[in-house]
Amino acid sequence: YRSFGFDRTNSMGVNLANDQQLQSLAADVNAAARTDWRAAPLVPGASVGGADIAVTNPADRREIVGQWKAADSATVEQALKNAVAAHDAWDATPAASRAAILEHAAQLLEERMPQYIALCTKEAGKTIPDGVAEVREAVDFLRYYGAQARKLFAPEALPGPTGESNTLHLSGRGVFVCISPWNFPLAIFLGQISAALAAGNAVIAKPAEQTNLIGYYAVKLLHEAGIPEAVLQFLPGDGATVGAALTRDPRVAGVAFTGSTDTARAINRALAARDAAIGVLIAETGGQNALIADSSSLPEQLVKDAIGSAFTSAGQRCSAARVLFVQDDIADKVTHMLAGAMAELKVGDPGLLSTDVGPVIDEDALKMLRDHAQRMDSEATKIAEVALDADAAHGSFFAPRAYALKSLGQLHKEVFGPVLHVIRWKADQLDAVIDAINATGYGLTLGIHSRIDETIERISARVKVGNCYVNRNQIGAVVGVQPFGGQNLSGTGPKAGGPHYLPRFTTEKTITVNT
Ligand code: SER
Repeated sequence: YRSFGFDRTNSMGVNLANDQQLQSLAADVNAAARTDWRAAPLVPGASVGGADIAVTNPADRREIVGQWKAADSATVEQALKNAVAAHDAWDATPAASRAAILEHAAQLLEERMPQYIALCTKEAGKTIPDGVAEVREAVDFLRYYGAQARKLFAPEALPGPTGESNTLHLSGRGVFVCISPWNFPLAIFLGQISAALAAGNAVIAKPAEQTNLIGYYAVKLLHEAGIPEAVLQFLPGDGATVGAALTRDPRVAGVAFTGSTDTARAINRALAARDAAIGVLIAETGGQNALIADSSSLPEQLVKDAIGSAFTSAGQRCSAARVLFVQDDIADKVTHMLAGAMAELKVGDPGLLSTDVGPVIDEDALKMLRDHAQRMDSEATKIAEVALDADAAHGSFFAPRAYALKSLGQLHKEVFGPVLHVIRWKADQLDAVIDAINATGYGLTLGIHSRIDETIERISARVKVGNCYVNRNQIGAVVGVQPFGGQNLSGTGPKAGGPHYLPRFTTEKTITVNT
């Protein structure tokens, strides 16, 4: 079996603890903000004459930050033709040359960090620290898959009888469609694309409808770095027209998708129903992430990590903690401290360094959260609700909340936003807690807070999740350090930023020569 050891480095990022560095970055980000960003399909040979659609700032819907145009079905068809025609030459390009382009793109992205953070702030409502994390992760993906491709694509000589040479060759699968989410509009978008490109595939990238501008400027950057325009095409549009047309097309070899479990199922059905080779699906989907704390955990650290895990990025991370299971001996103290710490959270303009929690992505998300809060107000006990100021009425702001619940059964689905649910458990109920978490069918992240090795081992061995974090927060997986992705309803694997992801975008050929 092939060894996956290869050299790589992670991006330096920004020292968020250095006030001077942070102030200067914030000034650069605010100076880079524009009101005339424009996105349109990037498809050679297609005419893109559709209507302009306005993009508004989630923090203030009165502010238009740019315009985009959607792809129509003729543009989708042109993109597929271009991709098929472009694939072979790209696949034949040495992996080291493909990697060099991705590494060049990483360098450009690092140099232009303020512009990309400004896009993330204005289009996706990301705070500046979230924007830094977003750019850093995107840079890491570009370098990680580039470095891995250099290693992976060297033909491997295999042992065999005398008089025979056997080699294993990898190549791209063909045309890969990358459908990415709005919550990591740069990092996951470029993570999927860079893996598919590094492996030698022609890529058609379909961004989330909420974050077309970020996707457009990310693709432009890859073109500038040297990816041919027909090898990486950009197809913004609605899921029903663009996404569905791509996934049912027999020319598509595979799909990388991050989003809901239901959409992943629909894509899988579409790929299987075609009269074509069975398409590959790499899907990262939902979660119902828990944090289990026993009576030996340190309340201050637990509360800090629970707040970081539940409310960073306005709770809009698939890794975010949704349910804190706290042992009853410390539950009163923890609940009290949680309410006190939440009162300190500042919700507001994500462009300000004083802001902890920005807006949620759009009015649909806001409605879903308000409906959930309304149900919780009648069925659960509110522990805390953060105050919003008057300006919040102009944006898609939802006040972070915590509720005490009796059981996990009170949550019917993932609540994708800043809501933490707290459930108490007694010493003899630890296995029941683990069973309840496994019974959701989801398995993305799990937090454990405990000072008892035996408890940590028991929980981590039994819980079926992809990423388990002990005595720290449970968000912010680092590329190459914490390969990220879930089990069961949370995704197909392999994990992004891990050694097994890139090989999934490849196909293998063994060549045997009688010498
Ligand atoms: N990779 C992100 C994190 O770990 C989640 O999408 O927070």
